Amino acid sequence: RHIVLVGAPLDCGKARKGCLMGPDAYRIAGISRALTDLGHEVSDLGNLSPDSNDIPEREGLVNLSETIGWTTALMRTAQEAMQQGLPIFLGGDHALSLGTVPGVAAHAAQEGRPQFVLWLDAHSDFNTLETTTSGNLHGTPLAYATGQSGFDGFPDLPAIVPPGQTCIIGLRSVDLPERALMEQTDVRGYDMRAIDESGVAALLMPFLEDVAKAGGALHVSLDVDFLDPTHAPAVGTTVPGGATVREAHLVMELLCDSGLMTSLDLVELNPMLDERGRTAHLMVDLAASALGRRIFDRPTPRLM
Ligand code: ARG
Ligand code: MN
Ligand code: MN
Ligand code: MN
Repeated sequence: RHIVLVGAPLDCGKARKGCLMGPDAYRIAGISRALTDLGHEVSDLGNLSPDSNDIPEREGLVNLSETIGWTTALMRTAQEAMQQGLPIFLGGDHALSLGTVPGVAAHAAQEGRPQFVLWLDAHSDFNTLETTTSGNLHGTPLAYATGQSGFDGFPDLPAIVPPGQTCIIGLRSVDLPERALMEQTDVRGYDMRAIDESGVAALLMPFLEDVAKAGGALHVSLDVDFLDPTHAPAVGTTVPGGATVREAHLVMELLCDSGLMTSLDLVELNPMLDERGRTAHLMVDLAASALGRRIFDRPTPRLM
């Protein structure tokens, strides 16, 4: 496959800085080489910058204007990158998905395919500008991309991802107002207890079957804090009790077997908080699993 790396060093989605070093950390951890070793062709578009705008800041919201500048830039670039291959958006904090998800969804709409989203995260990121109590816009992208109201000042969505076409796995920190909003929709949200009880494959496979049946495009958004902080310390919003290394790899391996993934975000890596690069390396290894790295070949499971 042709893989397009897109560096998005945005760090405006919350107060603590460091995610702007994420794209370079992934490059230094060898993301290109890991993917070319699997037989893929890789091009790197380098690092983007945000559009400028004259949107005024709003009290209670962190870096609104810059976040909207990144959103418009990423919507455009995501749409373009989809025409070239499978984009991997190297973040940057999770506010980047305010742009990438609507951008890839616009591409899918042009092709007449439904867009699905798999959100691997401790958080649901389902706040709106009205419900957020932190003001951190990295806590909002899934609400925006699924067309919830309460995003004054943000661009009109080029395409909406219906909530029923999204699946969140890994939840263990959800604010009450975002939970209330989420429960008004048919978003599939699985908490860590669901993983404990049935295993991650049993949660993921029915969703992948839906994507396959619909002939859909599948965007995967991988937040570092999906993983347990003992394995992935380099994130500002650690929550204990997260996915193990094997649970995360299994998700990626099943995604690879399915052949359904059409785009990927790697978000929230803060290299300032890393230990000898181990979180960056783990994220690169997970991306490699999603794109074909394996020990033994296995028969592709039947999807539909
Ligand atoms: N729910 C919290 C908030 O809205 C935390 C969001 C964390 N999001 C993230 N992408 N790490 O502020
Ligand atoms: Mn296409
Ligand atoms: Mn997130
Ligand atoms: Mn998170």
